[in-house]
Amino acid sequence: MTTSYDVIVIGGGVIGSSIAFHLAKSKRSVLLVEKDRIGSQASKAAAGMLGAQAEIHEAGPFYEMANESRTLFPSIAEELKEYSGIDIGLVNKGLYKTAQMEEEEAELKRLIAFHNHEGQQAEWLEAEDLLKREPNLSKNVRGAMYLPNDGHVLPAELTAAFARSAAALGTEIKEFTEVTRFLQENGRIAGIETNHGVFYSENVVATSGVWTGKLLEQTGLDVPLYPVKGECFSVCFPIAPITATIISNGCYIVPKQRSRLIVGATMLNGQYDTTVSFKGIAGLMDAAKAILPSIESGIWEKAWAGLRPQTPDGLPILGEHPEIKGLYIAAGHFRNGIVLSPITGKWVAELIDGKRSKETLRLFRVDRFSKQPELR
Ligand code: FAD
Ligand code: GLY
Repeated sequence: MTTSYDVIVIGGGVIGSSIAFHLAKSKRSVLLVEKDRIGSQASKAAAGMLGAQAEIHEAGPFYEMANESRTLFPSIAEELKEYSGIDIGLVNKGLYKTAQMEEEEAELKRLIAFHNHEGQQAEWLEAEDLLKREPNLSKNVRGAMYLPNDGHVLPAELTAAFARSAAALGTEIKEFTEVTRFLQENGRIAGIETNHGVFYSENVVATSGVWTGKLLEQTGLDVPLYPVKGECFSVCFPIAPITATIISNGCYIVPKQRSRLIVGATMLNGQYDTTVSFKGIAGLMDAAKAILPSIESGIWEKAWAGLRPQTPDGLPILGEHPEIKGLYIAAGHFRNGIVLSPITGKWVAELIDGKRSKETLRLFRVDRFSKQPELR
């Protein structure tokens, strides 16, 4: 049995699976270890919006990263289909962020000016035009910001497709395998200890979602990730009452295959459990009914929750450990791990392959929260 690899990736969420896929494509021997099943945590809970513009409202490298990642989806969808046979359900019908109050309209118009200034498409639709496109929306709507390029995918399928494509390219995947300790030798990573034995590599990537901070505690690095729990529910219809994603004050509604709508999501700071509360779902139902009254006639499917991995400054953590050579971190993608997954996989694989300088990832550097001044 092989116990030695070019790279070990810890965590089979969308981020770890994308990194494993991109490394396998560059002919690295890869081991992907997951303490549960592939895609069983945040990556399964997501709504799958590619909300590069809907979610990020500040100019700079993070906005550019998200928009660049979003453009990779058409080609990644084809590539993953070829390697894995899985359809990631890419839908490119855009997204409407609606306004029901005067102040919301003014804010959305400001955002449209911002996106246009940054070279991205965004336009204002008056209520009449919006209701022509989405006639089942509430007649109380004032209008919407239309973002034609914020599509969506099926997040569980995307994660499975990355992992299965990585496997098709030779990656070994070990599920139900929990990493308990890092092995080090002379300031360099040497491997990992797990509940199923020891595995060796000079390159290890910690992509363990919100649990990454805890795992890295033993290395002396402060990675202050915390969970922001999100609850969602889904309902089904004979014919879907909307054609594109709707975001309103208090919820989003994403129309998926087979006339199924996902409604999300609450934001609960610091909760590590994935239970679903009556209060959370009731609040989402009220918000969904306010913008789409006919949602009431849907057939209940299910409710669920997941933990978004958040950082104190809202930016992901990407790069090499400042003191342990060969130990990389990719975590903290918060509300945007699905849309950011292609570019994160690509960039981290390039960093490990020596094809990307760490300077290009400076904004996301792993030691920016460190209390030790020499690590900042
Ligand atoms: P995870 O998916 O949590 O994966 C980490 C994995 O590491 C887990 O499978 C875990 O079991 C494993 N692990 C942990 N510790 C260990 C260990 N010691 N050993 C081995 N394995 C370990 N993003 C979008 O872009 N668009 C959306 O529409 C969207 N909607 C969302 C809606 C909700 C309700 C939520 C909760 C999130 C949403 N997100 C969305 C955010 C997105 O889901 C996350 O940013 C993304 O899934 C994070 O991926 P990850 O791989 O870092 O974490
Ligand atoms: N990006 C949607 C969410 O995190 O709920």
